[in-house]
Amino acid sequence: KNIVIAFGGVSPEHEVSVLSAMQVIASLKESSFNLIPLYISKSGRWLTGTPLLELENYKDLDKLREQATDCTFSHNKMGKPILLETEKKSFFGSPEEYPIYAVIPAFHGSEGEDGSFQGTCETYNIPYAGSGVFASSIGMDKVKAKELCRAHNIPVVDEFDFFEKEWERDRDTVLHYAQQLEYPVIIKPTRLGSSIGVTKATDEQALIEAIETAFRYDNNLMIEKAVSPLMEINCSVLGTPEELQTSVCERPLGQEDTLSFEDKYQSDGGQKGMASADRVIPADISDELTEKIQSLSEQIFKVFRASGVARLDFLINEETEEVFFNEINTIPGSFSFYLWEESGMNMKELMLKLIDVAQK
Ligand code: DAL
Ligand code: MG
Repeated sequence: KNIVIAFGGVSPEHEVSVLSAMQVIASLKESSFNLIPLYISKSGRWLTGTPLLELENYKDLDKLREQATDCTFSHNKMGKPILLETEKKSFFGSPEEYPIYAVIPAFHGSEGEDGSFQGTCETYNIPYAGSGVFASSIGMDKVKAKELCRAHNIPVVDEFDFFEKEWERDRDTVLHYAQQLEYPVIIKPTRLGSSIGVTKATDEQALIEAIETAFRYDNNLMIEKAVSPLMEINCSVLGTPEELQTSVCERPLGQEDTLSFEDKYQSDGGQKGMASADRVIPADISDELTEKIQSLSEQIFKVFRASGVARLDFLINEETEEVFFNEINTIPGSFSFYLWEESGMNMKELMLKLIDVAQK
């Protein structure tokens, strides 16, 4: 049975995705499945081939591209979905076609975690692990995700969003709204993850700079009231809206106010991805707060109609213990395996479960 692991992609979270995918591949190496990589390059080329299974080879992307083979989804003569090599690498060989049992999308960020790749799988009738189109796309948009939560009385922090053209036309209105939220405020690209482009601003000058930076990543930004004193707590949910379980909570460390990209991924050279970031597991919080976060996590997973494994991120006011939903990650870094290990499930078991509940 062929399992296609799909990763990379054009999103700024490309490298993080490669790390997550390598963890998936390592965990399933000893399984009964045949693993086929589907690497989407930064320029959007679909590539396959065994060199793509080794993290080592990503040091030299030009060489890797030469060793890899272009590919696409297609159907065989029986109408079954396949991964088809579209370029002949050997003089004698004909292009290989691999019937697909299921795809594991291991993308983070736009055009991979946001429902577009999931939609492609739907169109080809290919079973895929994780959330479907709806949860993936609304989960990627932090503003729309919060609006959905508000409709279900799930607490969120006040924010407003605006487009680049609006900023260019009328800065004053944006600055006025920020003033009304009261500084400090947090500036975020609306549709991205891994804390890329996220900045805290304590005054107007810093806000203007942060906005200019964040527009490099998205043409829509959100400005949010900062929670202070802040404690971040995350929790993972696994299964389907009908049958799910929650993990222990984690408290990510190493941040002043928000986690930087470096805090999350590069603390040991990025070799272990998310799993290398400093965190306290289980989070050193009261049983009461843990239960509250776990039950909110279940509720949010259902509200989003998520599937597979998701990580729900919360902002807590450390003084008052007020809890706010921050975001849902429908493909969390490292698939949150480290949270499930704590509950006695290793990464291989987690992946087998994901394949088991793959969208049919
Ligand atoms: N977007 C990254 C991978 C995460 O939040 O897990
Ligand atoms: Mg995130």
